[in-house]
Amino acid sequence: MPRTLPLFFLIPALLLAACSSGASEDIPPTFTPDQARGQQVFAINCASCHATQPDMLIVGPSLAGIARVAAERAPGEDAQTYLVSSILDPDAFIVPGFNDLMPKTFGKTLSGEDLDALIEYLFTLE
Ligand code: HEC
Repeated sequence: MPRTLPLFFLIPALLLAACSSGASEDIPPTFTPDQARGQQVFAINCASCHATQPDMLIVGPSLAGIARVAAERAPGEDAQTYLVSSILDPDAFIVPGFNDLMPKTFGKTLSGEDLDALIEYLFTLE
């Protein structure tokens, strides 16, 4: 009996660790519910390739400052239009120095609400 006892402690501890790591990052208290939802969508779908701290490359460019950058990337496109098109149609503009590696499936896998929330979150990255 004493031999099996540690498992009773270990299993809940592992479950707890699995739940508290990964998708959920700390949500700033100033975030609206939409921005908080967008942060979750980002953590699940985007954070494997995009950092949000400056100058950190994973597979894609850091999205720190993307709210400002997006306004100037493509002539005639405002930030909102550029962000939507980068997510739904990543081929439309390839960031210089990067490869065309971004998935082209987000138009299918993200709901309209997820996409809206995601854009709201990206606008907080100034
Ligand atoms: C498999 C890796 C990968 C994933 C996952 C990914 N991206 Fe990308 N992303 C890239 C790469 C590589 C580029 C640069 C090439 C290009 O422009 O398509 C990029 C470019 C971008 C750009 C343009 C950045 C700029 O400076 O103009 C935005 C915005 C962007 N991604 C947002 C997202 C969002 C939002 C998600 C999640 C829904 C996401 N990406 C998921 C790899 C990824």
